[in-house]
Amino acid sequence: MVVTGGGSGIGAATARAFARQGAEVAILDLSAEAAEAVAASIGPRALGLGCDVTNPDAVASAFDAIACRFGGIDIVVSNAGAAWQGTIGSVDDATLRRSFELNFFAHQSVAQNAVRLFKAQGTGGSLLFNASKQSVNPGKNFGPYGLPKAATLFLMKQYALDHGRDGIRSAAVNADRIRSGLLTGDMIASRSAARGLSEKDYMAGNLLGREVGAEDVADAFVWLARSNKVTACTITVDGGNIEASLR
Ligand SMILES: NC(=O)c1ccc[n+]([C@@H]2O[C@H](COP(=O)([O-])OP(=O)(O)OC[C@H]3O[C@@H](n4cnc5c(N)ncnc54)[C@H](O)[C@@H]3O)[C@@H](O)[C@H]2O)c1
Repeated sequence: MVVTGGGSGIGAATARAFARQGAEVAILDLSAEAAEAVAASIGPRALGLGCDVTNPDAVASAFDAIACRFGGIDIVVSNAGAAWQGTIGSVDDATLRRSFELNFFAHQSVAQNAVRLFKAQGTGGSLLFNASKQSVNPGKNFGPYGLPKAATLFLMKQYALDHGRDGIRSAAVNADRIRSGLLTGDMIASRSAARGLSEKDYMAGNLLGREVGAEDVADAFVWLARSNKVTACTITVDGGNIEASLR
């Protein structure tokens, strides 16, 4: 399996969760050092590679290198992302476009390479996307992040529709408020203080009153990869948020 942005947070937890199931894992990250460190912590069945997923040529080369090393690819988790902010009426164009490059176009580039290999192998495969609560329930001043994420949620549906008969299953996980490089300890401290909450209550601010971890999101990716009758599906892993619930 391949996971992008696997050098940190949800991607690293996903690599570990698949490795625990016996999968060989390839970890791509902008930081080669981070990808290699996660791979080394997993063991010899893991490979860490530096790859900027916003560069389509780099993505194609990385997928070819992974297929050569492991003899093919059967599961891809397109996870790399980052959260740009800005008020939509005044945000500069460059910020919005930069976010679309990573949070939408990179997913398309990763997915096209996954389809290229799944079809060449004649095996089908599992194509999984990391969406976000923002893709269905926009947060104030988070348009630059949420808009490409919403497009990526529909990208997942388009792959399910266009490639179901190729045996390719496409699905997404929709998470919120996960401690990671995107939601750091400092951010948690300032956001909880701004709301007059303890950090614990801020992180557990959902219907169940329980903090959700990167491992919980990783488990949903594993479940989707194993469920061979499931496609065009989004699983919400956020402890419960009615405004972001899909049904
Ligand atoms: N943390 C949350 O609360 C949360 C909630 C919902 C969705 N997500 C999504 O989860 C995914 C993973 O984020 P995370 O929270 O684990 O954050 P993170 O910052 O810990 O991990 C993101 C990883 O992506 C890598 N990356 C960034 N740009 C890249 C590029 N151009 N090419 C390759 N790798 C790149 C980073 O180096 C980093 O290792 C993102 O798509 C994010 O939008 C996060």
